[in-house]
Amino acid sequence: MSTPAEIKACCAASYGQDAVALLLGESYHPGGLSLTRTLAERLRLRSGDRVLDVAAGPGATARLLAVDYDVTVDGIDLGESTVERARGAVADAGLAAKVSFHIGDAERIPLPDGVFDAAVCECALCTFPDKACAAAEFARVLKPGGRVGITDVTVARGALPPELTTLAAWVACIADARPLTEYTATLERAGLRTVHTELHDDAIARMIDEIEARLRLLRMTAPERLTEAGVDVDAVLRYITVAKNAVASGILGYALLVAEKPV
Ligand SMILES: C[S@@+](CC[C@H](N)C(=O)[O-])C[C@H]1O[C@@H](n2cnc3c(N)ncnc32)[C@H](O)[C@@H]1O
Repeated sequence: MSTPAEIKACCAASYGQDAVALLLGESYHPGGLSLTRTLAERLRLRSGDRVLDVAAGPGATARLLAVDYDVTVDGIDLGESTVERARGAVADAGLAAKVSFHIGDAERIPLPDGVFDAAVCECALCTFPDKACAAAEFARVLKPGGRVGITDVTVARGALPPELTTLAAWVACIADARPLTEYTATLERAGLRTVHTELHDDAIARMIDEIEARLRLLRMTAPERLTEAGVDVDAVLRYITVAKNAVASGILGYALLVAEKPV
């Protein structure tokens, strides 16, 4: 059994690997930037808002929000190489005045109280060992009336097959995912009232298909890239089959929710 610190370190290190970028593309959550736009609309972002992206990954969401919604964004992520990658992409896009990234833990956000109009957290709450603590941090950094928008993996309680309860499955956003009602209850206890929910189960099915397609294509066209990135193709394909079955039988899904801090 891994400790919370080990889980977090493993998560941060894993998402910094080139293999992840190879298999996931530019944004590391089901639904991609299209679902990020939906989330931004549900949050009713306005020009000039200050937005926090918690567990921002390589920063595709932060850049999109800055450009398409004219907001300023602070992204935090625990992975040092992930933050470096995100900073590089921001500099390349000429967005340094609007987007900045910080190395930091979602359970101890290194930013002041009550300064954000909105926060987003995509496909990451499921990986935080102390979800109550992260929710309290979302509430702390939001202004009164501020909103947090979350998209995340959902799981039917107690129904995961054993192959999907390992540390690797935790890092892959599955082993510690919760039912949607549990996410809303955790936010509620932190003082954040859920005002909107949507199911996007199709997004997780599509993401698994896309990962499989990329993997099979790379195996045919550039197997050396997979070897260099340390990807065990057969192991990933076996894992994909189990995950697909879990989605097909309704055990795994994906959901969007918006919660509000009282004025
Ligand atoms: C599935 S990726 C999602 C990245 C990004 N939100 C996106 O949708 O592209 C999960 C991210 O959470 C980060 N992470 C994991 N645990 C964290 C923690 N405790 N605090 C901050 N970031 C964390 C990882 O480094 C990784 O970049």
